Amino acid sequence: MQVEIWEDYISLNSRTDYASKSLGPVSQYLHQADGTVVWDTDRLAVQVAVERDTAPLPTTEDREGYYGDNHYNFWASGLRDLFQITDWCDANGVNIDSYLDVGCASGRLLRHLHYQTGISSIVGCDINRAHVDWVTRHLPLAISVFQNTSIPTLPLADGSVDFLSAFSVMTHIESFDTTWLMEFRRILRPGGIAWLTFHSSRTWAEMTPGWPIYDALATHPDFSKFRGKPLASDRLIFRWRNQRSYSSNVFYSESYIRRNWGRILEFIEVIPCQPSFQDTAIFRKAGP
Ligand SMILES: C[S@@+](CC[C@H](N)C(=O)[O-])C[C@H]1O[C@@H](n2cnc3c(N)ncnc32)[C@H](O)[C@@H]1O
Repeated sequence: MQVEIWEDYISLNSRTDYASKSLGPVSQYLHQADGTVVWDTDRLAVQVAVERDTAPLPTTEDREGYYGDNHYNFWASGLRDLFQITDWCDANGVNIDSYLDVGCASGRLLRHLHYQTGISSIVGCDINRAHVDWVTRHLPLAISVFQNTSIPTLPLADGSVDFLSAFSVMTHIESFDTTWLMEFRRILRPGGIAWLTFHSSRTWAEMTPGWPIYDALATHPDFSKFRGKPLASDRLIFRWRNQRSYSSNVFYSESYIRRNWGRILEFIEVIPCQPSFQDTAIFRKAGP
């Protein structure tokens, strides 16, 4: 893709007046042709969650292709991720009043934060204006959303965020990852949590054809040089040959995460397979 305006070297679709499309609410998509769901429906009182969520779903195109035409599983995957977070917070005594989802896309998680929790301040940001427009047009007004850039700076006050997540975002950040960690540290309150998913050496070793990340990399000209061997470096980057932001896949070793990110925020733990193809690194900003 050619970059036509300078803003799109550091963001995407910055001047787009995006004609977003939408589907009906999740209650219209409960019966998937293949019958699969991505979670334990009994445990999560799914009917209650479905009834609360009256907003439209994004089309597959408007949600980074997630879950193909299985609209219910797209919705359910966000709820699964939310419950993993709230379970962890309950177990670790973390209270959330203000939440930031970095790289929120069309609100896979934001919608559940709004409909399924009592969190008072819910904010999302993404470098892709089309996603920001989608959230603005289709999700409730109580959710704030803005376009950020790939320069690691966010227009949020120091210490103003209790919990931030970045699902499948650090997996695409090849430059300035430590600067992003510094920015996260600035906006988190003391004791605040960063929940960052990443492609790890486990992902690298276990991925097989059919995994989305494997199938994407299989088309990369450098993949064959590395494939079938241990992760070749602590930060292995596959950059696609264009000038856009958001055009690489990055694998991080856990020792890189601990050594580089863990000196900026306090490293708590890595939870493997969460979500399934990635691992989650959890950090805390030092303080009460
Ligand atoms: C793989 S998608 C994941 C979307 C969403 N987090 C989810 O889990 O459904 C990556 C998202 O991150 C956004 N993104 C990539 N680099 C970013 C950056 N530096 N800052 C904010 N968003 C970014 C992309 O536009 C895209 O929406």
